[in-house]
Amino acid sequence: MAKLRVGSEASGGGGNVGGGGNVGGGGNGGGAMHLKRKQQERRGLSLSVIAALIVLSLQLGYGGQTVTASSRRHNRDRRYLAAGGALTAEQRLEKALNESLERAVVLQLTEDVVLTKALTQFWGRIHIKGACAGRRCAIDGARKFPIFDSLRVAPDCHLTLENVVVQNAKGGAVRGKCDVRAIKTHFLNNDGGAIGIHLGLARWDVEGCLFEGNFASHGAAIYSSSSGGGKVVDTVFRKNRATHANGGAVYIDDRGYETRHFRVFDRVTFDSNTAKESGGAVFMTAFNFDTRTIFFLATTFKGNSATTGYGGAVAFESLVYARFCKGSTIAGGGNKAGAGKGNDLALLKSQYYPSHTVEFCPNIPSGLSLYVTPDPNVNVTVKAHCNGCTPPSS
Ligand SMILES: *[C@@H]1O[C@H](CO)[C@@H](O)[C@H](O)[C@H]1NC(C)=O
Ligand SMILES: *[C@@H]1O[C@H](CO)[C@@H](O)[C@H](O)[C@H]1NC(C)=O
Repeated sequence: MAKLRVGSEASGGGGNVGGGGNVGGGGNGGGAMHLKRKQQERRGLSLSVIAALIVLSLQLGYGGQTVTASSRRHNRDRRYLAAGGALTAEQRLEKALNESLERAVVLQLTEDVVLTKALTQFWGRIHIKGACAGRRCAIDGARKFPIFDSLRVAPDCHLTLENVVVQNAKGGAVRGKCDVRAIKTHFLNNDGGAIGIHLGLARWDVEGCLFEGNFASHGAAIYSSSSGGGKVVDTVFRKNRATHANGGAVYIDDRGYETRHFRVFDRVTFDSNTAKESGGAVFMTAFNFDTRTIFFLATTFKGNSATTGYGGAVAFESLVYARFCKGSTIAGGGNKAGAGKGNDLALLKSQYYPSHTVEFCPNIPSGLSLYVTPDPNVNVTVKAHCNGCTPPSS
């Protein structure tokens, strides 16, 4: 039998989430789709970074002569303005991605973009803001292409999507090692997943979004193997599917050694997400021997299912410290696991020494359907505990 301690005790806990991040940029401008940019260098951009950007630009083939950043920028601006009228919405998006390698860019989108080819693979710091009258502008992968695909790494690289629909990608809508921030954005029907953040220290910050109908082998809405942590606020995950493995909506497999950063879900609904294996809505595991922390605040799980595995709503695989704080509902919402093994929650053994602590505030929900891998090495504590159960600020 697994060592399962269920009880009620009070001890420490809580803490703070590391800081989020904002894309810089700004400035003035109009036009159908317009690049806004800072007139001045970003505060804190050191000479060495500028030098590095020039070297990078040269390696990427921007010009062959020795030019200063500002004179090259001037020439590029003139070329952009000269060509501006002739570019399609898709080309302007790609141009903005290219520009973001040199400085923070804000792109105001006033029409839909339907891709006719994969977008350029590099981005720097870019904020894409939908400004379609009375609706969200769409960025559409046409069911053929990935959309935002990055080879760069945080902190130089940061994508903010605001007030747009990102849909119909094939091969993932957002994928890479950059910080990702999504505000009032809908991610719909993306094949290969909506947001995928790989390794490194990039973080995800999601606010006021909808993830619906996305599918991927695992983690169809958010997949993260980074150690940067993340926060999701006021967001709905509906009918996302892990077609082969774990985590119908969210899959977190922290592969780093940085344990300071938490994952927080605050005022979130997980509705009717499915995983072929475990964790119909959320699956979390860690790669090494440090405990990872996850918070759920005022979060509801209903109608999620794990088809062949465990944990219809949530499954944790190793070294997880999880808190379900006031207002969260995981039991009694019709979540289902294969053979009823943890319809709501499963605490599983992994290849690493598994130890889980799960705390509920104010009480362990009555009727909680819980499954624990029956193995003597699985060390699980489930208890009621409210201290520190406030949203960690970020
Ligand atoms: C963006 O950069 C890529 C790679 O350098 C280049 O092939 C492409 O033409 C550029 N696109 C635009 C619209 O400038
Ligand atoms: C199980 O976990 C608890 C809480 O983390 C810890 O105090 C205890 O030593 C662990 N037990 C074993 C056998 O490892």
